[in-house]
Amino acid sequence: MNSKRKRIIADFTYNPVTAKAHANIALIKYWGKRSVDLNLPAVGSISLTLDALQTTTTLQFDDHLENDILQLDHRIVAGEPLERVSTFLDLAAGTIKRPRAKISTSNNFPTGAGLASSASGFAALAIAANQGMNLQLTDKELSKLARQGSGSAARSIYGGFAEMRCGSSLNDDSDDFAQGLYNDSYWDLRLLIAVTSANKKEIGSTEGMVRTAKTSPFYRGWVESQNEDLDEMRRSISNKDFEKVGELTEHSCFKMHGLAMSARSPILYWNAATTKMIHTIWNLRKKGIAAYVTMDAGPQVKVLCLPGRAELVKQAMLSVEGVKQIIEAKPGPGATIVSDDQQTVKNN
Ligand code: DP6
Repeated sequence: MNSKRKRIIADFTYNPVTAKAHANIALIKYWGKRSVDLNLPAVGSISLTLDALQTTTTLQFDDHLENDILQLDHRIVAGEPLERVSTFLDLAAGTIKRPRAKISTSNNFPTGAGLASSASGFAALAIAANQGMNLQLTDKELSKLARQGSGSAARSIYGGFAEMRCGSSLNDDSDDFAQGLYNDSYWDLRLLIAVTSANKKEIGSTEGMVRTAKTSPFYRGWVESQNEDLDEMRRSISNKDFEKVGELTEHSCFKMHGLAMSARSPILYWNAATTKMIHTIWNLRKKGIAAYVTMDAGPQVKVLCLPGRAELVKQAMLSVEGVKQIIEAKPGPGATIVSDDQQTVKNN
């Protein structure tokens, strides 16, 4: 996208720029890429941004640095995470050589354990880069930039419900961007997150997607059936039909995990507590309590319910052996720049 993106001026600010963004949960999942190089998704997806899972990122350009420095949750990190961040800033700068930078980022939740830290992380970095380089990108352009860091990050540019759209070209991303569907005040829902392990996942999303696409006999069916799920989910959210949204959320989740399990070698992100939690929630449903599970590329279980049921569902979740923590989330806001005095000054 760099060649096509409008560039106003290369105008780097050397003041620190701080951005924050929230993770999102995919109700209709993204799994699979048309192009790994450009990070183009093979399917569209629909998500809900979450207020409780937040990344705060400060970007500071500094000509005196020899290399970029990445500080993640108060520790300096090198290797792959640093390379990913540096490459992302290079992409944002396009053809213009940018100054070295210090990037300090922290999450208020476990990193890399399937709680979408890459989504909030790259959305925050996209917003910070836009401000720090004076790129003057629109939300659509910001979502494309964030997508190049991590596919799910494109959706975290927006608050509330967002949809990632999927194009068809193998070498062009003009149709691969996220759009806001409804903001965070549209529908008061709860997402209860059971943390069943704080360990880093063994198979990252990209690796998992590539292996699945190459080896699963069901991959074509997954891609071909996605538009129907997206259409139904869009309709159900617009009707505020909670049962339908929940049922579709579970369907997309189990379709994705079934697909991953059918890869060679198989990919299983769950642990024993994950499975126990699924049955606990299904038992609640048998008793007439509307609660629905979804899992991403990790063992944590996220349970969607209405606010009036949240306490009861939470108590049932706490009784599951192996649960370390329950995080309660509501629909959250889009990614923003935060000024020095912590006031939100831009975007959504
Ligand atoms: C299971 O966005 O982490 O959470 O584009 O390779 O960085 P990359 O993948 P990523 O994948 C998210 C996968 C998922 C489903 C989803 O969020 O839609």
